[in-house]
Amino acid sequence: MKGIVLAGGSGSRLYPLTLTTSKQLLPIYDKPMIYYPLSVLMLAGIRDILIISTPSAIPAMAALLGDGAQFGLNLTYAEQDEPRGIADAFVVGADHVAGGPSALILGDNLFHGAGFPEVLRTARATLDGCVLFGYPVKDPQRYGIAELDQDGRVVSLEEKPLRPRSDNAITGLYFYDADVVDIAKNIRPSARGELEITDVNRAYLAQGRARLIELGRGFTWLDAGTHQSLLDASQYVQIMEHRQGVRVACLEEIALRLGYIDVEACYGRGIEMKNSTYGQYVMEIAQALA
Ligand code: TTP
Repeated sequence: MKGIVLAGGSGSRLYPLTLTTSKQLLPIYDKPMIYYPLSVLMLAGIRDILIISTPSAIPAMAALLGDGAQFGLNLTYAEQDEPRGIADAFVVGADHVAGGPSALILGDNLFHGAGFPEVLRTARATLDGCVLFGYPVKDPQRYGIAELDQDGRVVSLEEKPLRPRSDNAITGLYFYDADVVDIAKNIRPSARGELEITDVNRAYLAQGRARLIELGRGFTWLDAGTHQSLLDASQYVQIMEHRQGVRVACLEEIALRLGYIDVEACYGRGIEMKNSTYGQYVMEIAQALA
């Protein structure tokens, strides 16, 4: 399965923070925002990942992440010159995913919770059509919303409904089969001028091939698109890390635990960053797993 991180957009709700830098490179506590969605794809067992961003942001992203070898990944980059919508990821990324299943994650989404790797692997193994991930929210008017029947099947999908039929928000993580490129290429821009991912998901729903996994209230899903939510996400990570002594979305740790890199490579990355507590943590993990 291939992965895509959609990390472009204008980030206008974060101005002036994002006037000269990309939203997805801003810090969430101790690491750049894009580490969090990358960690999700890694935990799903995905190593071949396309990062889509703006022409101006890609050089900085490539300087940060390179070809991904330090995490045992194969990272490539593609430009989205205008924010044409989330479904545009499959137009820009058509060659990357061609002919196979893929997972798309938004570059400003943070997922964290017990058992998540297992949830991801099961979703991947049982993929037929698309798998969406739902999360209960108190302001469903702001999200794509799924209505489920008694058996948990998706019966309707609506984008930012005025009168939501449920509080089940569709999060920024989507698994698709090989049909997604054709579906995305055939949808039309919405009234706001974007290729809507909800329209892609509706096409799968019409075929009876849209499934939703409820992440539930014990789980954490945050995005970091506003000043408040950026701070909330940083505070969440800071509290979790200080309380538990383990890091959220430490890519070196995930890579080592999954066997993508060896102990020496992990320790070497830690040494490069030894003046930071992040680097020290990477060194400790390498020693603990040696
Ligand atoms: P949004 O938060 O909806 O948009 P944005 O990042 O442009 O921010 P703002 O509303 O403040 O102007 O986007 C969600 C994620 O998807 C974010 O990581 C940016 C990314 N995105 C793209 O890369 N390309 C797009 O065309 C769109 C719509 C979003």
